[in-house]
Amino acid sequence: MSVAVDTLNTGNTIPLIGLGCWMGTAGKAGENDEAEAMVAAALKVGYTHFDTASGYGNEEAVGSAIRASGIDRSSLFVTTKLGLPDHGRVAEAFEESLALLDLGYIDLYLMHWPQAIDPATGRILGPEESPTINETWAAMEALMSSGKVKNIGVSNFSVKLLQQLATTSKITPSVNQVESHPFLPMIELSSYCKKNSIHLTAYSPLGQYNSPLLVNKTILDIAEKHGKTAGQVLISWSLQRGGWSVVPKSANPIRLAQNLVTFTLPQGDFDAVSVLHKEPGQYKALCQYGPSRQDGRTVPGQIVGWTFEQLGWDPAAFVDF
Ligand code: A2P
Repeated sequence: MSVAVDTLNTGNTIPLIGLGCWMGTAGKAGENDEAEAMVAAALKVGYTHFDTASGYGNEEAVGSAIRASGIDRSSLFVTTKLGLPDHGRVAEAFEESLALLDLGYIDLYLMHWPQAIDPATGRILGPEESPTINETWAAMEALMSSGKVKNIGVSNFSVKLLQQLATTSKITPSVNQVESHPFLPMIELSSYCKKNSIHLTAYSPLGQYNSPLLVNKTILDIAEKHGKTAGQVLISWSLQRGGWSVVPKSANPIRLAQNLVTFTLPQGDFDAVSVLHKEPGQYKALCQYGPSRQDGRTVPGQIVGWTFEQLGWDPAAFVDF
């Protein structure tokens, strides 16, 4: 099974389907074994792209499964991310991720969130406080000369924050990874990124935890018509938009394999999925769905300590869930 690729603004390629390695929570006993087994199973069925983060607490497990596979490093694409408490120590945090993965180099290093956290106090810093996204990005740019990272990018960045970054950046992010699926199509962001040669990766392309997308009648009807699963319809739709890759997570061996098999939706079906977000009351999210909503830290109107306005998201696009 060979997965299609897109060419990034560096000239490097990114496989369009990757395995999301967020296991739902970080650092629970047994979780890293689960992540290692998931990556090992994914390598066997043909995944070549793996998406982890320092915040997932499983870089070591992901790297270990990849090394154990014996697959040629150059045929794989590995992403990891700078943690929120690490914005003021980019070079050190990068070396830590590099050592934990132990794969020689990192294909893509992303600023996980625009928000920085003061590691001493745990306080989420405001957008104007140092290190700002511009300062953190400058430190990430400096990594490129090391040869240990092939591409750098951002995650959870709106058009507003990408524009702010562009006022000082020397390197345009290769990738912006954001939550996206038919109920959260990120249309404005998509057109900005296309115009500016920034590839988009959709996380949670199926929706998060018990996703209503997987039981949506339009999705299920299209799936049945073509003899596909709802997951395959959703992943195929994301790729058919152009300029997007996806990183669905599945620890289930059957779904893991199914998620790699895409098809071309006939135009009518593609359009029917593309208008789903216009139906009122449909589920949308930006990383606030599922356990994070119940953890007592989620403040209404805010995402990880910043308001929608500070983040540059239109609240109307996200609140319905
Ligand atoms: P599982 O690992 O049991 O397959 P994320 O938002 O992190 O991408 O998570 C996706 C969620 O959807 C996971 O809970 C995963 O659970 C589930 N999942 C992955 N692929 C499919 C699929 N094809 N059909 C239904 N659920 C899926």
